[in-house]
Amino acid sequence: MKDFAPYSPYVDGITHGADYFPEQWLDREDILEEDIKLMHEANCNIVSIGMFAWAFLEPSEGVFEFGWLHKVLDRLNEAGIKVWLATPSASPPRWLSNKYDDTRIVNELGHRRKTGERQCSSLSSEIFREKVAEINKRLAKEFSSHPAVIGWHISNEYGPWDYSEKTVSMFRDYLRDYFDNDIEKLNKSWWTAFWSRRYASFDEIDAPSSNGDNSLHGLTIAWQRFQSFLNLDFFKFEIACIREAETRHLPVTTNFHIFRQMEYGFDYTEFAEAEDVVSWDDYPEFYKHPNEPWKEAAGSAFIHNYCRSVKDGKPFVLMECSPSATNWQEFCRLRPPGLQELMNLFALAHGADSIQYFQWRKSLGSSEKFHGAVVDHGGSDTRVFREIASTGKMLKVLSKSGVTGARTKAEVAIVMDFCNAFAFKNIQALSRNKPRFFDMFKDLQECLYSFGVMTDIVDRHSSSEKLSQYKLIIAPLLYAVDENFANNLITYVKNGGTLLAGPFSFIANLDDHVYQMKRPGLLRDCFGVYIEETETLLPGERVSIKLADVLLSRTDSESDIYTENFFDLMHLENACSLAEFNDSWYKAYPALSKNNFADGRAYYLAAFPNLSILSEVIKFILDEAGVNCLSEKLNDGCFVIRRENAEKKFVFYFNFTNENQMIVNKSALSCIDCDFVIPPETGVKMKPMSVRFFVEN
Ligand code: GLA
Repeated sequence: MKDFAPYSPYVDGITHGADYFPEQWLDREDILEEDIKLMHEANCNIVSIGMFAWAFLEPSEGVFEFGWLHKVLDRLNEAGIKVWLATPSASPPRWLSNKYDDTRIVNELGHRRKTGERQCSSLSSEIFREKVAEINKRLAKEFSSHPAVIGWHISNEYGPWDYSEKTVSMFRDYLRDYFDNDIEKLNKSWWTAFWSRRYASFDEIDAPSSNGDNSLHGLTIAWQRFQSFLNLDFFKFEIACIREAETRHLPVTTNFHIFRQMEYGFDYTEFAEAEDVVSWDDYPEFYKHPNEPWKEAAGSAFIHNYCRSVKDGKPFVLMECSPSATNWQEFCRLRPPGLQELMNLFALAHGADSIQYFQWRKSLGSSEKFHGAVVDHGGSDTRVFREIASTGKMLKVLSKSGVTGARTKAEVAIVMDFCNAFAFKNIQALSRNKPRFFDMFKDLQECLYSFGVMTDIVDRHSSSEKLSQYKLIIAPLLYAVDENFANNLITYVKNGGTLLAGPFSFIANLDDHVYQMKRPGLLRDCFGVYIEETETLLPGERVSIKLADVLLSRTDSESDIYTENFFDLMHLENACSLAEFNDSWYKAYPALSKNNFADGRAYYLAAFPNLSILSEVIKFILDEAGVNCLSEKLNDGCFVIRRENAEKKFVFYFNFTNENQMIVNKSALSCIDCDFVIPPETGVKMKPMSVRFFVEN
């Protein structure tokens, strides 16, 4: 299988660097020189510049000053430092926001923002688009051929929801298009007979809000999908401006974010289609697992897997991560020694061909002056700087070994669909504080890694042909699904695939309109069960689960197996039971079912997928699906990850614990930086908080 080309034709290996804000130091020429010297010491070779520099590029309306940027780019180029050049739309200058009111977003209560902050512009504002077009085209004309520039970092973390009249008017047009200009079709889909909330025309529709319509879930999800559509439309508009004026074609990307709150995000799969390279900003919540950082690493890996899969396996860019504390989080937890280095190599192992930090140098004022940075207020004689330098050294070794562009092959796919997350967030069911979607995926990912299993991520955009690549597809909590994707999953099973799904799945469509059929709706025959109702447990409550002998014979763990949060009460039709609930009146209700369906098999997990039940169920299903695992069962905190190209299989061993670990190697391993070979099955000693990389023979 052909390797991928580098993520930009203007880089020739793994890149390592940070967000860089020279505009904050224009009065300090010495800082630029010091920064370049330190970038070399930190083994850094790339920076992102300009995302918040509009006030220095256009200090007053129509007056453009690019001299400072030329100087910085020329100096960086001389020093061999490459540059992602940003479009500055995320932070318009005060003169623009002050002069043009409609460029500032309106909140859900109808109040227009004052000038201030960043990422608060109305993307439907014509004057804002005019000003963005002007600056983007000038930047493209002026700098797209600059030898330092390797790509465009379009804006920064798209995201503002705007409730301005112009945006709401665009929303109405979006709905007219979506519902074929048939208001009755909309009324039916949104079930507006409820509380007499019928619309007589599209003109009557307003955005959902706490002082307007807040119970029409069709409206709520349509509004979020529209906000995703509007930000995507603006992203494409920015790219078009660049493309119109650039004198050299450069790859474009925009940095994805808020995956951990994916219910409030955008449908990034549609953004990925519009760009050349996927990039994202990773801010793990280590403070939630101070002694088990691997749980957060598994969460980051889930998103790495998404960012790679959404571009058909193409290497992505880790555009931002903090080299230490993340100052806006609940607790500014430092990275213990070695953790960030592990996280950086972990990203590379999953397909990141650039590892970049927010930020290069700590600012001296404003809200991020205490955010982690490569260079501290007091300089570079720090633990953090040394760790980043050490990472850079390892990345150079890996770059030389040819890992750039290598693929990550997966036999298992997890279904993660943003629209499903949006819909699930809105429902009034189960409990007021439903579990965070991301935490469930984090547990599932951790469980699969413990069996040495790499995964891709798929969603409703994934074709039947794409789904057929996998031996196992896991669809946890797929509450909202369209008929097309449901049919693709059915076809996948019919053709010999193995599907594991549930609970609370296949209930509504993407307009959050419930299918009027017994659950799991369109897949009832495929799973051979029907779900009658769903129970919600109180915090701390658990219901134990008893495994059938066929599973019991495969497990050696004595740990309790239980469900929590919520679980389905289901009835078997053609399926058989592999586990049962074992407490209270839930006894004898199946917790896990299996149905042979045409050439494939479908398992329905009624229990909420926590680690206790997953660890038992997954191994059995992996075996049944014939999935090849990279390792035997690994201890908590250990990972075996592989990237491969036509010549080599690069294998990465990670130990995220503070203890020595032993990872038994299935194949013979050659060290990358020496010609020592470890014979198969001999085991690799792993020091605490360490990574080792090999070529598999
Ligand atoms: C986001 C932004 C950065 C910075 C970091 C801080 O990712 O893109 O500009 O504010 O958060 O963690």
